[in-house]
Amino acid sequence: MRIILATNNKNKVREVGEILSPLGYEVISQSEAGVDIDVEENGVTFEENAFLKANAVHKLTNEPCIADDSGLQVDFLNGEPGVYSARYAEPGHRCQKVLDKLKGVEYDKRTARFVCCICYIGKDGQAKTFTGKCEGHIGLEKRGTNGFGYDPIFMVGDKSFAEISAEEKNKISHRADALRQFEEYLKGE
Ligand code: IMP
Repeated sequence: MRIILATNNKNKVREVGEILSPLGYEVISQSEAGVDIDVEENGVTFEENAFLKANAVHKLTNEPCIADDSGLQVDFLNGEPGVYSARYAEPGHRCQKVLDKLKGVEYDKRTARFVCCICYIGKDGQAKTFTGKCEGHIGLEKRGTNGFGYDPIFMVGDKSFAEISAEEKNKISHRADALRQFEEYLKGE
């Protein structure tokens, strides 16, 4: 069976494809399915945004679809940047904005988490959501050069997400957590 991933991000399609192909699913991008849309992510939760994307592609194709939405929640900032993670500041300035807002805040109070929500709409049109999390702290400065986005300021233990390998990150990340839950669900299907 094939599943359309509501994205044109090749890395996401590969990552999800690697996990689902042993279960007999072929993962293709929305453009490979002939869908050319850019869904406005105007939900106020990760769950809503993931549903908006999956539903838009499902409506056009009538095939099983998945979409994800993810971001960083900083407790001291009441959950900011949250669903605004991708548009919190100009590219290259997002980590610094978080660091500036936490200036003078002691380490214990810098708790944060990455969240990833996957929405799956199956053949029957039913939507299911799976929310993965990875708990950590916002560091005192940017560290490391691997990864992307907020990785240099997100600390798990004494290392930032930008200081560990992709392989290590894929074991503990919010995305891996959500994908594991989704995989368990599909195994039971
Ligand atoms: P989206 O889920 O593709 O809409 O991305 C949301 C935004 O959250 C990204 O642009 C990043 O800024 C941030 N983000 C999500 N996951 C990660 C991660 O694993 N590392 C760093 N930043 C992330």
